[in-house]
Amino acid sequence: MTLVITLDDQNRNTALAEAARVLLSGGTVAFPTETVYGLGADATSAEAVARIYAAKGRPSFNPLIAHVESREAAQVQGRFSREAEALAAAFWPGPLTLVLPLATHATVCGLARAGLGSVALRIPDHPIAQALIAAVGHPLAAPSANRSGHISPVTAAHVFTDLNGTIDMILDGGPTKVGLESTIVACLDEVPRLLRPGGVPREDIEAILGRPLKEAAPSATPTAPGMMASHYAPRAQLRLNATTRAEDESGLDFGGTFASGPDVLDLSPRGDLIEAAAHLFDYLHRLDDAGKPAIAVAPIPHHGLGEAINDRLARAAAPR
Ligand code: TXA
Ligand code: MG
Repeated sequence: MTLVITLDDQNRNTALAEAARVLLSGGTVAFPTETVYGLGADATSAEAVARIYAAKGRPSFNPLIAHVESREAAQVQGRFSREAEALAAAFWPGPLTLVLPLATHATVCGLARAGLGSVALRIPDHPIAQALIAAVGHPLAAPSANRSGHISPVTAAHVFTDLNGTIDMILDGGPTKVGLESTIVACLDEVPRLLRPGGVPREDIEAILGRPLKEAAPSATPTAPGMMASHYAPRAQLRLNATTRAEDESGLDFGGTFASGPDVLDLSPRGDLIEAAAHLFDYLHRLDDAGKPAIAVAPIPHHGLGEAINDRLARAAAPR
């Protein structure tokens, strides 16, 4: 059985100390970040990191994000170019992950990096995540806390449904704010590359860089599970860019395209992409659980967070 602790003012310190003890002894703890719930393990221990892959049922050892407490802690793990420094200064703590060349004295283990000579780092913008990392005193490797191929969890209940019995503990800190995973930018070559759209819009990153990001290199073997075509998979079939809804479809709406009804959830009736991102995975979970065989999805504008929302929807709709 997995222990679920709902944090409040009374139990907060003891709960965090208990979670840190589990992590330092090589266990797995799911915790909230501002993006989605992460499944954490001590990133410096290959044995601990192996338990993440086992719990998620990942088909292969994909590299994981190491969550750190501060920019100083990040500098122990990765080598920052001037542009990487500028991005960290602008967006940390927050939903941006930087992939950097491994630093000489890095402690993140090879398994967490899938043997690569680079490391993915971010400082999460969430008090529970930050307190937990500080209590452990090591970086925490944490992919999204779902079984491989399932929808990312934005509540502790989602984590419990997917991973009960396979992980040691879940810290319940309420629903996550952003609702989409972090944007991943690789600062490995001359021009930074967008590996995954996410919580920080591309436009905001390019404004700091003063030039466009390069696109992820098309590659036969995807480096990121988030880059596999059918990664975010509800059971129901998705029909994208739908302007009407059929009888046997539920509706994932945006800005009131469909007539409202019991089987329709609107990501943002007022057409706000930030609000839509925060609702995306929760509404996909709810429509999927409601049991209709298909979900009609209204068109979502492609600017700002719309790029990441459309990326996740395209993966959820991909044939599998
Ligand atoms: O918002 C998030 O990023 C959440 C929360 C928990 O922080 N985490 C998350 O982790 O989405 P995960 O494992 O589901 O996705 C991490 C992505 C993967 O697609 C992985 O392949 C990529 O980061 N990644 C990690 N290290 C990398 C590296 N060295 N080079 C290229 N990609 C890397
Ligand atoms: Mg994931």
